[in-house]
Amino acid sequence: MKIEIRLGETPARVSEIFIGEDIMERVPGALQKALGSRSAYWIWDEAVWALWKGRVAELGWPLDRSGGIILFEAAEPEKRMSSVELLARRLVSAGASRDSAIIAVGGGVTGDVAGFLASIYMRGIRCFQIPTTLLAQVDSSIGGKTGVDLPEGKNLLGTFEQPEQVYIDPRFLTTLPDEELRQGMAEVIKSAMIGDEVLWKFVESNSEALKKRDFAALCRIISASCLLKSRIVQADEKESGERRALNLGHTVGHALEKLTGFRLRHGDCVATGMVAAAVLSNRMGKLQAEDLQRLEKLCETWEMPTRIPASIRSRDILEAVRADKKRIGNKLHFIIPVRIGKVIECTEIDDAQFDQVLKSLGAS
Ligand SMILES: NC(=O)c1ccc[n+]([C@@H]2O[C@H](COP(=O)([O-])OP(=O)(O)OC[C@H]3O[C@@H](n4cnc5c(N)ncnc54)[C@H](O)[C@@H]3O)[C@@H](O)[C@H]2O)c1
Ligand SMILES: [Zn+2]
Repeated sequence: MKIEIRLGETPARVSEIFIGEDIMERVPGALQKALGSRSAYWIWDEAVWALWKGRVAELGWPLDRSGGIILFEAAEPEKRMSSVELLARRLVSAGASRDSAIIAVGGGVTGDVAGFLASIYMRGIRCFQIPTTLLAQVDSSIGGKTGVDLPEGKNLLGTFEQPEQVYIDPRFLTTLPDEELRQGMAEVIKSAMIGDEVLWKFVESNSEALKKRDFAALCRIISASCLLKSRIVQADEKESGERRALNLGHTVGHALEKLTGFRLRHGDCVATGMVAAAVLSNRMGKLQAEDLQRLEKLCETWEMPTRIPASIRSRDILEAVRADKKRIGNKLHFIIPVRIGKVIECTEIDDAQFDQVLKSLGAS
């Protein structure tokens, strides 16, 4: 499957996403077509390199292409400015120029860092993404947000720069630990809740196949999630309106990540955040109890937490949510579901009601 994201100018900037069980085989030809004789520099998550270098060499990936391979230790603490500088210096010493390209292979950390580097190296060079975690395949490689963290907070430095092409092959997920698959599934469930009831039903009835990494089932959910995200990004690249729907579950989710010192994982926090948004919506009379139960059940099927740890205080969550809002510099845009496949933006949240919801979910 091929999805195109076309962005506003004339001529439109186009970002192409290729999804399928044969993408690994198609990478050499696609890169040759896109790059011709120009140089390209691979940035690989070193863990993914160790697992996959043999297979991709067999498939004839042009790994020795001019610039060669730079290995990157992909872990959230490495998603920082000094890594960007180090990688940039490696590019300079390897001779990368303004017409060179970066090809990033790995999860969201690698993609965000390499994408950021590509967007600023010599004022911007071409970027290709080959995401290897479910989260990166359905979320971080799509939509052009790149960036790194600061000690003060995540993703505080970054750019909007669409990759030229994204190659997605679900077979990479065979080596992905279950816990990482679950983090990506939370974003898939989020996409379904935002705007795709058919995807929701598919996940409900195919969770076992997905857990076993059934490639056809994975392709189905990746394609649907990418399609939904690209549609939203196309309408609102820089998140001034519609793109905010993608933040479903993230308001409370980010607060939980922060308050647990990032011990609770992002996807897990988003799952709990979605449940909180759904409970709130239900109490406001906007979401039926049956849909709330379906959300809880699906999260439980995937062993995602649906309750807030008692060690977290409701008032701290409220404070973290407000700090986040201040950081973004606008009103609290709380996204709430009104049924499976539809969300609305709510800017008037009653603090007392929000507090009750958080306490009903276990917060102290
Ligand atoms: N740019 C965006 O729009 C956007 C959206 C969502 C998340 N993000 C960012 O993405 C990051 C999280 O991404 P992630 O969850 O992919 O994390 P990650 O890149 O750290 O990958 C998770 C782990 O899986 C390993 N891994 C990757 N592919 C593998 C494979 N095929 N087999 C075995 N192990 C593999 C990695 O080495 C790592 O240990 C966060 O920094 C987040 O801020 C960005
Ligand atoms: Zn997320």
